[in-house]
Amino acid sequence: MVFYVLTLFPEMVLQPLKFSVLGKAMESGVFRVEAINIREFALDKHKTIDDYPYGGGQGMIMKPEPVMRAIKFLLDQDPKIWFIMLTPQGISFSQSTARRLSKFKKLALICGRYEGIDERVMGYVNEEISIGDYVLTGGEFAALVVIDCVARVLPNALHRAESVQEESFSEDLLEYPQYTRPPLFEGKEVPQVLLSGNHKEIEKWRRKETLLRTWVRRPDLLKRAKLREEEKKFLREFENGY
Ligand code: 6GU
Repeated sequence: MVFYVLTLFPEMVLQPLKFSVLGKAMESGVFRVEAINIREFALDKHKTIDDYPYGGGQGMIMKPEPVMRAIKFLLDQDPKIWFIMLTPQGISFSQSTARRLSKFKKLALICGRYEGIDERVMGYVNEEISIGDYVLTGGEFAALVVIDCVARVLPNALHRAESVQEESFSEDLLEYPQYTRPPLFEGKEVPQVLLSGNHKEIEKWRRKETLLRTWVRRPDLLKRAKLREEEKKFLREFENGY
């Protein structure tokens, strides 16, 4: 898979992806990231990429022409590229969005800066995505979030093939608590069942922890989670006794 990132700050998106799991996935050719510097598509002597907002107001707006030229430059190479504008005005990004986007061969992520991009470039864009209800200074960190989430669900991106599979079974639920050595830390023991070697019991315990944790911390998630009949019953009983 190829991610094209249209940005005024290429290093901001290229450097952070070089580490750890994603860095290795890139080295082994699972995906690739190409930064397109929008400034290179400004044609005037000063390479102007922003201007004052019509109607007045705070800050500067990114001019449409350089962004549009950068988009056309990519479309000329491949008309099938899917263009995403990163903006707080977009649809909320989620794990299911990541799975959907992972099916594309080539994604282009457009990072706005300043107070926004001229609305007339939206006609060149396939969808607008926001990563949450807060305001960033630009789309670069959002592009990194999208790339990280999409890349890690690509086949062969993780060390263990089952990690993502396992997760999809627990999609929309929170993770159960995890422990590693030592068995006693600051007076706190690791739950006995995890030391028992009984895989069936361990799995049961983890599933219960997952359900209870989600019920306590994120009850909103339980509405869309796929639960077995006995799991729904377990939660109902828990709810009545709580
Ligand atoms: Cl995609 N961009 C900016 N600038 N702020 C955001 C965002 C995106 N998503 C949440 N906040």
